[in-house]
Amino acid sequence: MLTRVHALAGLAAGAIILVFWVSTVAVELLGTPQQVAAVKTAILWGLLALIPALMATGGTGFRLARGRRDAPVRRKKTRMPLIAGNGLLVLVPAAVFLAWRAEDGRFDGAFYAVQGLELLAGAANLALIGLNARDGRRAAGRG
Ligand code: HEM
Repeated sequence: MLTRVHALAGLAAGAIILVFWVSTVAVELLGTPQQVAAVKTAILWGLLALIPALMATGGTGFRLARGRRDAPVRRKKTRMPLIAGNGLLVLVPAAVFLAWRAEDGRFDGAFYAVQGLELLAGAANLALIGLNARDGRRAAGRG
């Protein structure tokens, strides 16, 4: 049961980051400045789902990992602070900054620098979450 909650929360977090990433690229390529601003605002609201999903994944994960010292679990434990740190120190501040600039219609060099950084950090987190899901399957004896 706890494993299922854990896996679902982790997959939800990954799916939310994927939606943020794809909608960011799509609206940058195809959208009007107003549509870019609307996506930026929607991403801020989406953080209200992403952050609890990541907290639930981490919380249940560390509980499931109690007393386990196998390699997949150790790797997952090492990755989680990177995922959380990347999220809290890069993705959240970037989302706030970009929403604020887009709301003001200020699409300048700083906007695109932070936008690039956000896409890179988002891709890194997606990769780390994917690796944690793969090691999770292994840890559960299903890999
Ligand atoms: C975003 C990060 C994470 C994702 C996406 C994730 C995803 C998953 C998935 C998909 C499974 C397999 C469930 C199954 O096949 O039934 C799993 C299992 C597991 N995860 Fe995670 N996980 C994450 C973080 C963590 C963390 C931080 C820990 C703590 C070390 C952890 C510990 C475990 C353990 C111990 C299992 C095996 C449970 C069992 O044997 O029943 N996970 N995880």
